[in-house]
Amino acid sequence: MSSPMATDSTKFLLSDLVSSHIKYVPSKYIRPESDRPDQFNVEKSNAAIPVIDLQGLAGANRPQVVEEIGLACQNDGFFQVKNHGIPMDVIEGMLHVAKEFFHLPESERLKSYSDDPKKTTRLSTSFNVKTEKVSNWRDYLRLHCYPLENFADEWPSNPVYFRQVVGEYCKNVRELALKLLEAISESLGLERDYMVKALGKQAQHMAINYYPPCPQPELTYGLPGHKDPNAITILLQDGVSGLQVLRNGKWVAVDPVPATLVINIGDMIQVLSNDRFKSVLHRVVVNNTSERISVPTFYCPSPNALIKQAEAVVDEEHPSIYRSFTYAEYYEKFWNQGLQSASCLDMFKLT
Ligand code: OGA
Ligand code: NI
Repeated sequence: MSSPMATDSTKFLLSDLVSSHIKYVPSKYIRPESDRPDQFNVEKSNAAIPVIDLQGLAGANRPQVVEEIGLACQNDGFFQVKNHGIPMDVIEGMLHVAKEFFHLPESERLKSYSDDPKKTTRLSTSFNVKTEKVSNWRDYLRLHCYPLENFADEWPSNPVYFRQVVGEYCKNVRELALKLLEAISESLGLERDYMVKALGKQAQHMAINYYPPCPQPELTYGLPGHKDPNAITILLQDGVSGLQVLRNGKWVAVDPVPATLVINIGDMIQVLSNDRFKSVLHRVVVNNTSERISVPTFYCPSPNALIKQAEAVVDEEHPSIYRSFTYAEYYEKFWNQGLQSASCLDMFKLT
């Protein structure tokens, strides 16, 4: 018997606890008062997060679009993209199958459950249930997606078209990630293929996040403030708000715009660019009316890739900030530290 059996008093997943219509947030989800989402300190307009039209990347306007991307990576660490090349039916299919998966009966979903972070396909809850002190208001299905043929056979087979629909989305996102990495390389004055080469064989991981409605959203987080450890993240969100980004000391809501994806720089691009580009803090708040689904794709270096700043961005005025390390070394630190605002990057600084 590989999947756990859940009884009413011990639910493995938050979604199954919430389905009994609880009126209060259980104590293990309650944050200390000094660390709660303060809704009064949130800017409601997401006009601050640039929207970049990628249509121009393929034509004569490429230099301008590359410059826009560079400025966004430098100033915001976050931007949104439209005309990104992923067809609407692929996007809608992905969101639809994600919702169907999380609406399956508990016994069916628990077939994928595991709290072992080494598993390449697993359903879990919160962030790292083995090490964290306070839990997060989230369930998630984590999948390795590249090379697709190595992993798709271990993905859920219910809904029956899960593998096909998610596989199609993964292929499309990979193409977009490569396009963005080329533009990011150029915007730093590097060869177009610099980043792709620097990341080694590369890996692509996906989380399908499910945030159930929460009876007391002011007491907890879907995800607390954190920075992504990977190279870049491509986020698809359904129509429900929840993502917030820290900008000039204020949290800014990144409300979903149809057909638009959210891109953010992860810690590895910050290192490769020697801090020219920033991996910034972001968090997820929950609400008391709607479930929310988001699908981040984490584009990562291969575990054995040696990460170090590009020589061309280092000079007398901008000396090397980090020692070199493998992504495997970095990722282990990230995972064990738990989600917190102090970035793991500080541990890799040259002194
Ligand atoms: C993440 C993340 C944002 C969201 O999974 O790392 O930041 O909107 N997700 O779910
Ligand atoms: Ni994140």
